Amino acid sequence: MASVSIRGVVKSFGKTPVIHALDLEIAHQEFVVLVGPSGCGKSTMLRMIAGLEDVDLGEIAIDGRVVNRVAPKDRNIAMVFQNYALYPHMTVFRNMAFALRAARLPQPEIERRVHEAARILGLTELLERRPGELSGGQRQRVAMGRAMVRDPAVFLFDEPLSNLDAKLRSAMRTEIKKLHQTVKTTIVYVTHDQVEAMTLADRIVIMRDGRIEQIGSPLQVFQKPTNVFVAGFIGSPAMNLLTGTVHRDGDGFRTTWPGGPTLPVPARAVPKLTDGQAVIIGIRPEHVSAIDGPTRLPADWQIEAEIAVVEPLGSETLLLARFGDHELTGKGDGRTIPRPGQRQRFGFDLDHLHLFDRANERALT
Ligand SMILES: Nc1ncnc2c1ncn2[C@@H]1O[C@H](COP(=O)(O)OP(=O)(O)O)[C@@H](O)[C@H]1O
Ligand SMILES: [Mg+2]
Repeated sequence: MASVSIRGVVKSFGKTPVIHALDLEIAHQEFVVLVGPSGCGKSTMLRMIAGLEDVDLGEIAIDGRVVNRVAPKDRNIAMVFQNYALYPHMTVFRNMAFALRAARLPQPEIERRVHEAARILGLTELLERRPGELSGGQRQRVAMGRAMVRDPAVFLFDEPLSNLDAKLRSAMRTEIKKLHQTVKTTIVYVTHDQVEAMTLADRIVIMRDGRIEQIGSPLQVFQKPTNVFVAGFIGSPAMNLLTGTVHRDGDGFRTTWPGGPTLPVPARAVPKLTDGQAVIIGIRPEHVSAIDGPTRLPADWQIEAEIAVVEPLGSETLLLARFGDHELTGKGDGRTIPRPGQRQRFGFDLDHLHLFDRANERALT
């Protein structure tokens, strides 16, 4: 069993506060990803769990035991970094066995653990090679193997894939997910890449400036962002965020924005709105579809805009369009590709409209 509890943890470097009273409960066997822009405090938080940085205030407990004063080597954790520095003169086997030899485990036990980890990671054929004879992805697997053989209660990963090219990164993502399904160890994983966070996590923790903005499953944070920051950070291409206002219209409300149409607001948002309220209107590109023929979509769910940039992806086309002072990203089906400068009709799927209060940037929907 290994849960991780972070309670009221505060950290500053000199006079600069980096982590502000952070609370987080990570369950046994859970895969939690800390994600946020560079400099928001992810590595600092991970290093405090590892014991590589002291905690100023608050407590960190691993499996119920407060570890604030426990040395890193006694915390039963293993950490994998972006720069996974293997020993170049040692074989893969010796690299993986290094910590176990240092801990004076019996040789048969070392062999058993290294071979087991090598089997899970597909390294069995490579055990006699040196790091210089391996690809980037293979080296990263050795770094993971080196952590795995120690059989830690908690794995800590700090941007382990950032040095790999896009294709390898996506392959290694799958490897890490498989690894978690096989060994079921608790994992705390840090990345600035929201796609990595979405694809790997049981729960995502979105951080900004040393604070947690939202915690939830990948789908929760994608479908129900609690504020503008999370709405813009999670999802690719990013959610359209447009400045506007809402006005009462009979029993409901309509959004208005300069140069744009007025859109009916979904009923679920109505209780929180006031007439004339300043809002940010959020809609994801997948809910702004190019319309080329007849449609059953109500006229006031549609707009016409001028195509500015076209990005064909094969299965679909991303369309950056302008209307009034606004830019909007929408999607075409990939079969007909409009040209820049052309007028194009788009339909909004208003069931997926998000509204945020412009004053505090919190979700109203
Ligand atoms: N050892 C340190 N001394 C002083 N400032 C640091 C130190 N480590 C990190 N920082 C600062 O703390 C903030 C958070 O850094 P970090 O945790 O590395 O962010 P992230 O991993 O999210 O990119 C940054 O502003 C960084 O410059
Ligand atoms: Mg970092």
